[in-house]
Amino acid sequence: MLVSGKSILQHAHENGYAVGAFNVNNMEQVQAIIGAAEETQSPVIIQASQGGLKYAGVEIISAMAKTLAENTTVPVAIHLDHGTDFTQIMKCLRNGFTSVMIDASHYELDENIRRTKQIVEMAKAVGVSVEAELGKIGGVEDDIAVDEKDATYTDPDEAAKFVSETEVDYLAIAVGTAHGPYKGEPKLDFDRIKVIKERLNMPLVLHGSSGVPEESIRKAVSLGINKINIDTDIRQAFHRAVKKFVAENPDVYDPRKIVGPARDAMKEVIKTKMEMFGSTGKA
Ligand code: G3H
Ligand code: 13P
Ligand code: ZN
Repeated sequence: MLVSGKSILQHAHENGYAVGAFNVNNMEQVQAIIGAAEETQSPVIIQASQGGLKYAGVEIISAMAKTLAENTTVPVAIHLDHGTDFTQIMKCLRNGFTSVMIDASHYELDENIRRTKQIVEMAKAVGVSVEAELGKIGGVEDDIAVDEKDATYTDPDEAAKFVSETEVDYLAIAVGTAHGPYKGEPKLDFDRIKVIKERLNMPLVLHGSSGVPEESIRKAVSLGINKINIDTDIRQAFHRAVKKFVAENPDVYDPRKIVGPARDAMKEVIKTKMEMFGSTGKA
């Protein structure tokens, strides 16, 4: 069932668990996510980045996600990940997304507030939930690159001001994770998560969550993280499965035979994450 991001995350916030937000670019990923959600009876968020929308087209991504979401009993939200562009956010609203992120985190606080507020006013008018980001998360995504040394952790006082002025539904915070594969083991600032949760008392979002050890994820969830973004771990599961299949079957050229096992492999990784985040059985 297609629902708003807020309805999923408010329940997670009130009941102390997190919901996976998994990035998609193609049909196999959408099917893997919904399949995993059904098998574990877990609410889930399907999200598309700027790069994902450029690759597949917003109409195709939303048509695939909506079709599967409307034909399942588990709660599903369709979310724009790291939206930067007013026009693209409007396009997502028109195409039935039920949640959007406005990422103006690379601007100064006042400008981040101004840009976020503009999107909140527009999205809330049509019943769509909004995520914003405060602080700078390390690593690279399609349109935004932040060096590890430039990553800045979220300040709790700024976060309180940001949320009261913008009225966002959930906030992405920078607490030591980075997008993409890690070089060493990520060290999360757990005290910061705890303090921000106590100050804001609202759903919090963790980006760059691939490769974070299970123990750290579980602790972050226990302290108040409710949305966990995963992209790289799914890409790597896809890559491993395709490489294995092609190595073992070098002459098979049917795309279904090549990417079918990758779809199953992605589903298994997603199910493991759902169990780790505590969302299984919450549908
Ligand atoms: O946070 C970013 C995601 O990993 C998206 O990456 O822009 O390459 O699709 P992408
Ligand atoms: P990872 O690729 O590190 O899992 O990050 C995903 C993400 O934060 C998407 O917004
Ligand atoms: Zn992200």
